[in-house]
Amino acid sequence: ADEDGHELWLRYRQVDEPRLLASYRRAFTQVVKAGDGVLASAQAELVRGLSGLLGRSIGVVDAPTRSGAVVLGTPESSPIVRSHCPAAELEKLGPEGYVVRRARVGKVDVVLVASAGERGVLYGAFHLLRLLQTQRGVEKLNVAERPANPLRLANHWDNLDGSVERGYSGTSIFHWYDLPEIKPHYVEYARAMASVGINATVVNNVNANAEFLSSEMIEKLAPLADTLRAWGIKLQLSANFASPMVLDGLETADPFDPAVRTWWRDKATEIYTHIPDFGGFLVKANSEGQPGPVDYGRTHADGANLLAEALEPHGGIVIWRAFVWHGPETWADEAFETFQPLDGEFAANALVQIKNGPIDFQVREPAHPLFGALPRTNSMMELQVTQEYTGQSTHLCYAVPLWKEVYDFDTHGAGPGTTVASVVGGTAFDYGHSGVAGVMNFGSSTNWTGHHLAAANTHGFGRLAWNPQLSAEQIADEWVRSTFGSHRSLVTVLTGMLLHSREIYESYNSPLGAGFVQGGGDHLDPCVRCNEPWHQSDASGVGFDRTVATGTGTTGHYFPAVTSVFESLDTCPDELLLFFHHVPYTHRLRSGKTVIQHIYDSHFSGLENASRLRSLWQGLRRQVDPRRHREVLARFDRQVDHARQWRDTLVTYWFEKSRILDRRRSWVQA
Ligand code: GCU
Repeated sequence: ADEDGHELWLRYRQVDEPRLLASYRRAFTQVVKAGDGVLASAQAELVRGLSGLLGRSIGVVDAPTRSGAVVLGTPESSPIVRSHCPAAELEKLGPEGYVVRRARVGKVDVVLVASAGERGVLYGAFHLLRLLQTQRGVEKLNVAERPANPLRLANHWDNLDGSVERGYSGTSIFHWYDLPEIKPHYVEYARAMASVGINATVVNNVNANAEFLSSEMIEKLAPLADTLRAWGIKLQLSANFASPMVLDGLETADPFDPAVRTWWRDKATEIYTHIPDFGGFLVKANSEGQPGPVDYGRTHADGANLLAEALEPHGGIVIWRAFVWHGPETWADEAFETFQPLDGEFAANALVQIKNGPIDFQVREPAHPLFGALPRTNSMMELQVTQEYTGQSTHLCYAVPLWKEVYDFDTHGAGPGTTVASVVGGTAFDYGHSGVAGVMNFGSSTNWTGHHLAAANTHGFGRLAWNPQLSAEQIADEWVRSTFGSHRSLVTVLTGMLLHSREIYESYNSPLGAGFVQGGGDHLDPCVRCNEPWHQSDASGVGFDRTVATGTGTTGHYFPAVTSVFESLDTCPDELLLFFHHVPYTHRLRSGKTVIQHIYDSHFSGLENASRLRSLWQGLRRQVDPRRHREVLARFDRQVDHARQWRDTLVTYWFEKSRILDRRRSWVQA
C-alpha cells in the first residue's frame, strides 16, 4: 500500500514474522485500565500499538483476567504495581524511569510497566512497543531505564505568521490563529515527541515576537498546553527581552528597573494562572539584533536572573542562549568570552543553552569550549535537528554520529572523563537543571519532515537525549525497522546509508573542518568565495588559524589537555585541521596526501558516494511502499545534482586559489 509517512516511526504494522507474531500474541493479551491524564495516554498508546503489531484488537480490562495482561502504573495508581515493585527500586529510577518485567498476580502472569511517576509509565509503554517494532524476543523481560538528560527539549523556530525559521518542510505545525482550537495533529505531534522521551517543547522562534506573551495569546495557548501535558510534555515559550516595552509601553526593559521586574513577575503569574505547569522561557538576547540586558549595560546573567526571579515562585526555569557573535573573526570565541566569566552568577533556576560547537551547526566542528567551563552554571546543549547547513530537506545527512561525537567529547572540565554527556546530563557538576534541546525539523508537510528520511534525525535526537550511550547503529536500526519494517536487506542497506550519510555530505561540502562554505542567507548553496572570512583561503594556504601561538587563541579556551591536542599540527585531528590551522595547500595529512589533493579527492568521491546512496535506494524498490520510495528517490535525484554543483564549484575555487593541479584527474584546468 502507498504510505504518506505521517505516522512517522509509530506505524505499528502487524509483525510479519509468523513465529514472532505467535509469541507476541501469547505474551500480550490485554491491557489493564491505568488511569487518567498521562496514564490514559500510555494505556491508549499501548492498546493502539499492540492491536496494530499483533493484528488483533486488544481489550482494556479492570483487572488482569488472562496471562499476558499488561499492567501499567505507579505505586499510587495501581495496587498491583504497589505490591509487586519495591518502592525503593522505582524511586531510584526517578519519575521518568521505568521497569518493564513479568510478575505473577494471583493465577496469571502479567507484564508490569511501572514507574514512580506517570511520565515513566508512558515512556515504559513506548519501550515495550519498541521491543515489538524492532522484533526483539520478549521471553525474558527485564528492563530498567532512566533518562540520562533531565531536560529533553524540542525547540521550534516557528513564527506568528506561520513561517518557520530554518524550516524545510512547510509552514508551522501550530495554527496560532485557530487556537484555542485543538487540531488532531497536535496529539500526533505529542505522541511522536513522547515516544522518544521529549518532555518539554518551546513552540515559538528564539527570534521571538513579543506577542507570544500577550494576554490573548496566553489564553489561546492554554488548551495546547493541556494537550501536550497529557503526553508528559511541558509547554515553554521563547520570550522577547523587550516584551515589557512592546506589549505594555514601558520605557525600558532594564533588568534593574523595578517596574520591569514587576512586569515580569505579573506576567509569570498570569501565565501560570492559565498554564499551571508552564515550563518557562527560552531567551535569545543581544544576538543577531535581538534586545537584551547588554542594551542597558547589564550582563547576560542579570538578564537571565530577572526572568528567573519571576518564574521561581511557580517552579519555572529560564533557558538563556549562549549564541552571541559579531563577525567571523571572533565568532568562535565570543560565547566563551562572554559567558565563562559569568560562571556562578546565574540563578538556580536559570540554564545556559550552548550550541554543540562554537560556530553554528556546521557539518563538522569541535565541541563548544563552554562545556565543562561552567561548573557553577546549569548548562544544556543545543543541537540542530533541522538541517540548516547539512542539506536541508534535500540531502540525506543523519546527524546521530555527529551528535554522539559531541556527547562523547572529553572536556577535561572536572578532570579526564568529563564528557559533554556528563556535563549536560548534570552529573559532572552539581547542576540543578540540565539537558539537551533540539531545533526541530517539523513542518506542515504530510510526513512532517519533508524528506522522509529526515525523520530519522528527529527520532535520533530524542533517543540520544534519553541515552547518549546508545550506538548510532542501534538507533538507526530501530528507526528503520519502525518506519519501514524489518525486511533484512532493507534494514542492512538503509541503516548503512544513514550511518555514512554525514561523512558523504561532509566530503563534497566541507572536508577537513574548513567550515562555513554555504552562502547567502539560505545556507544551502555553495558560496565559498563570499565566505573567505570563515575558511581564510588565500594563495598561500587554507584554514582558520585559531591557535594560541599565532591565531585567534580559540584553542586556549579548552582545558589544557584539549588545548594541546588542537594547538599542535602534530596532534590536531585531520577532520578539524582547517578549523584550527591555516596550512599551505601542500601540507601533508596523516594519510600522506597533501591538503589540496585531499580536497579534490574528497569532492569527487563525495559525489560518487551520493550517487551510490541514490542507487542503493533505487535497489530498495521492492522493500518500500511505492509512494515513499518515489518521494525519497526524487530527493536523492536532487541531492546528486546538488552534490555535483558542490564538487564543481569547490574544486574550481580551490584550484584557482592554489594553482596546484589535481594529480589524479585532468578535469580542469584550462
Ligand atoms: C543561525 C541561524 C539563524 C538563527 C540563529 C540562532 O545563525 O541561521 O536563523 O536565528 O542561528 O540560533 O539564533
